[in-house]
Amino acid sequence: MKKKIVVGKNIEFSYGNNKVLDDVSFHIDEGDFVGIIGPNGSAKSTLLKLMLGLLKPDQGTIELFGERLDKFTDFQKIGYISQNVRDFNQMFPATVEEIIGINISPRKGMFKGLKTEKKVKVEKALKIVGMDKFSKDKIGNLSGGQKQRVFIARALVNNPKVLFMDEPLVGVDQDSQRSFYKLMDVLNKEHGISLVMISHDIGVISKKVNKIFCLSNGKVYCHDSGKCDCSNMLKDIYTDNMSILLHHHDSGQGDG
Ligand SMILES: Nc1ncnc2c1ncn2[C@@H]1O[C@H](COP(=O)(O)OP(=O)(O)O)[C@@H](O)[C@H]1O
Ligand SMILES: [Mg+2]
Repeated sequence: MKKKIVVGKNIEFSYGNNKVLDDVSFHIDEGDFVGIIGPNGSAKSTLLKLMLGLLKPDQGTIELFGERLDKFTDFQKIGYISQNVRDFNQMFPATVEEIIGINISPRKGMFKGLKTEKKVKVEKALKIVGMDKFSKDKIGNLSGGQKQRVFIARALVNNPKVLFMDEPLVGVDQDSQRSFYKLMDVLNKEHGISLVMISHDIGVISKKVNKIFCLSNGKVYCHDSGKCDCSNMLKDIYTDNMSILLHHHDSGQGDG
């Protein structure tokens, strides 16, 4: 049996009186690439924050790597690229290698070798995302797609077992999206990193992932992506954008 990365059981969560998740259960296995979809305000980001222990459920339990979240301490195993990352101050005068280096969790005995060890880790992470030529560049001078790769490298630098990404493709052009999914494939298949990402582009993501969580009205519907009939299920939800969604669904084949 595959190892469980995240298990949520009977989760309820409210902001004040606003219950946004109602008796939700799900699991993410080792090797999964999970897509989380749903309209604006359907609690996608909230669900991700609950999985990361940034929010606490009112009811129910969440386990990370087989441990209750309140007991879990091994956060190095987890990479998180939040929605806010792209709002990162463009003028911040840091270089790519500095941005990545500050994310390295120091560990015991890592004093003397610090500089070289850090350097090696940063270089390795930049190589994986194909940005090793840019280590001395200022972050503000990079394109949207390049910046995104740097933030992925930043999340990779502690060798996480799972990567959580909140709408990483917003504001990223088509070419960069394609190379983003190629990179995800490498991370998932070659590096064995489980992936959990929120996306609006149902048509594309449903072809890339092996599992889909559809959020709607406080519920999470989990499918294997092959069996996901999102166009049907989401018809009620995405009323305005449905024609666009259906279009994506039909024409996304072979994209990327
Ligand atoms: N910090 C907060 N305080 C109060 N309400 C919030 C907060 N964050 C989110 N919400 C509300 O919870 C619901 C789900 O939000 P969110 O998880 O951000 O949805 P999504 O990521 O799917 O767009 C929305 O109705 C939102 O307005
Ligand atoms: Mg969100």
